[in-house]
Amino acid sequence: MGMLVRAAMLMSPLLFCNAFLDLTGPSEVEGIWKGSITLPCAYVPEKDFVQQTLKWTVIHDQSSGTVFRRDSSGDHVLLSKYRDRVSVLKDTPGNVSLHILNLEVSDRGTYTCQVTWRASNNSLIAKDITTKVEVVKVAATKPVIRASEPGLTFPPGARASLTCVANGSPPISYRWFRSVPGGKALLLSSQAELAWDSLQPSDTGKYYCEAENRVGARAVQQSDAVQLTVRESPVTQQPSPGTSRHTRPPFTPRGGAPQRVPTDAPAAKQAAGRDAVSEGPPVATGEGTRAAEGQVGERRPQTEGP
Ligand SMILES: *[C@@H]1O[C@H](CO)[C@@H](O)[C@H](O)[C@H]1NC(C)=O
Ligand SMILES: *[C@@H]1O[C@H](CO)[C@@H](O)[C@H](O)[C@H]1NC(C)=O
Repeated sequence: MGMLVRAAMLMSPLLFCNAFLDLTGPSEVEGIWKGSITLPCAYVPEKDFVQQTLKWTVIHDQSSGTVFRRDSSGDHVLLSKYRDRVSVLKDTPGNVSLHILNLEVSDRGTYTCQVTWRASNNSLIAKDITTKVEVVKVAATKPVIRASEPGLTFPPGARASLTCVANGSPPISYRWFRSVPGGKALLLSSQAELAWDSLQPSDTGKYYCEAENRVGARAVQQSDAVQLTVRESPVTQQPSPGTSRHTRPPFTPRGGAPQRVPTDAPAAKQAAGRDAVSEGPPVATGEGTRAAEGQVGERRPQTEGP
């Protein structure tokens, strides 16, 4: 078996040569506009062959040129539009992949990775591969609502805010609505954040947001609705004028966990608020309310111990 392979290699030097110092990389790579991308280009180093130059060139629709060159004098970015946006790792023998930051639509084109080696007998060997780069814009995703506080029940006069968060290529525009049962929803804001300086019981209701960018079909993405409730805190029995709701310690069955207030908010939203303060499993949409998570992080050591 081993003899056979050996014989085959000896008898087909062309086959052997093809694998020798070959550059490998995909023929096509897709990057997201304003994101970053790696154009792979790699070879297996051979001890008698020393890399002399590396050159990344590009052909755009209208123009072409050398993006990056590495030689004995160092690294050079030759096309000014790539200045400060491209790099090739150092100290990774054989890996000469090109990184491009902050992709522009005009970066799309055909990129060539060319490497030259010097053999021990001083002759030069050159190889290259090409990769087509596409730059795409990404449509806005369905937005999620993040609340300034976990839970969506507030006492009258409270400050609160809801933030609409969608992913996708910028710019993304946002709109906030209040549902009107049996009627047309009320447009409240054209910004990502909906904020109240002083909530009133009449603010109780269902809210949702929309996100949209100028990509693809421009479909407007709508969030699930959340139920916001404004009422006196139920822990304060018989509230009397002048009595701060903070004078009475809140009802806390375990540690600092705030009580659960029933709402008919969508499950995901409730989970977001609760998971931030409980030990439940992480929920996909539960990354909201960073402030609340921060508080929990400080609180946990006291309630749980080692
Ligand atoms: C080369 O480095 C890049 C990161 O810069 C990495 O993603 C890639 O997997 C590496 N390729 C090889 C063949 O090691
Ligand atoms: C130098 O070495 C390379 C690779 O080993 C070989 O292909 C080439 O024929 C040699 N050139 C000379 C002039 O000996």
